[in-house]
Amino acid sequence: MQTSQSVDYGYLRHLVFGLSQNVLDPSRDYLFETRLTKLLRNQGMTNLEELVQHLKLRKNPVLERSIAEAMTINETSFFRDTRPFELLRTELLPKLIEARRHSRGLRFWSAASSTGQEAYSLGILLLEHFPMLTGWNQRIEGTDICAEVVERAQSGLYHRIEINRGLPARFVVRYFDHHGEDWVVKPELKKMCGFRQANLCAATLPLNRAEDRFDIIFLRNVMLYFSQETRKLLLTGIHRVLAPDGILFLGSSEQPADPSIWTTVLAGGTCYFKPRLPS
Ligand SMILES: C[S@@+](CC[C@H](N)C(=O)[O-])C[C@H]1O[C@@H](n2cnc3c(N)ncnc32)[C@H](O)[C@@H]1O
Repeated sequence: MQTSQSVDYGYLRHLVFGLSQNVLDPSRDYLFETRLTKLLRNQGMTNLEELVQHLKLRKNPVLERSIAEAMTINETSFFRDTRPFELLRTELLPKLIEARRHSRGLRFWSAASSTGQEAYSLGILLLEHFPMLTGWNQRIEGTDICAEVVERAQSGLYHRIEINRGLPARFVVRYFDHHGEDWVVKPELKKMCGFRQANLCAATLPLNRAEDRFDIIFLRNVMLYFSQETRKLLLTGIHRVLAPDGILFLGSSEQPADPSIWTTVLAGGTCYFKPRLPS
């Protein structure tokens, strides 16, 4: 892929890091060319050089945020990596449900939810296998830094190709309605899941209420874009918003930056993390 000698990519990388903490390697500068094509067109600009010059001359927070968002990688799918969902079904959720039988509440957080497939997969898992939760206060929160993917998650609308990635046919008919070429999430599933825009690297984490901690957090396939320092800070914050007996799933190639506050549990061909109680 081609990059242009005259573009100050360092300026763009620095801008993206400042807003989303995503570290972009110079070897992938060509991604600016592909990902910012639409944004350039919308701005009536013809190339990246013009964009950088414009930004250097005057501050434009809205445009800067759009650039950072356009550079995020939103790859996701229903029941991605399957094993965490299987382990929840067979082992972890039955135990948590027993532990919450008096409060009758369960809170899930799909942090970096992208277009929503992870959150809706959790919803399907609950509806499909845990009918005893009817009447419980069950809530699945999804957050992502990128406004465009948050809107898509809220719409619950998926193309046939997205549906075919990871979703068994029986779930498609049970939890989705036809919508022309696409499929839309049925109201029963949609009402369990809420999505909003939030930056995981902001000073305070979203949904940070001590009395209302999360039981299960999925923080998958996002930390790989952060520096070691950012990962450490983020996981300290996650530790605070997770219930003492709560469960954290990371992406299959991710580990906690500070293992001293987490216990790693290997089970079901995958692993999850439990907060170590403060000593
Ligand atoms: C590769 S997707 C992972 C989606 C899902 N968790 C999964 O594993 O399938 C990474 C997501 O992280 C989001 N992201 C990147 N930086 C972020 C930040 N600082 N705060 C919140 N979300 C961020 C991106 O917008 C993108 O949608």
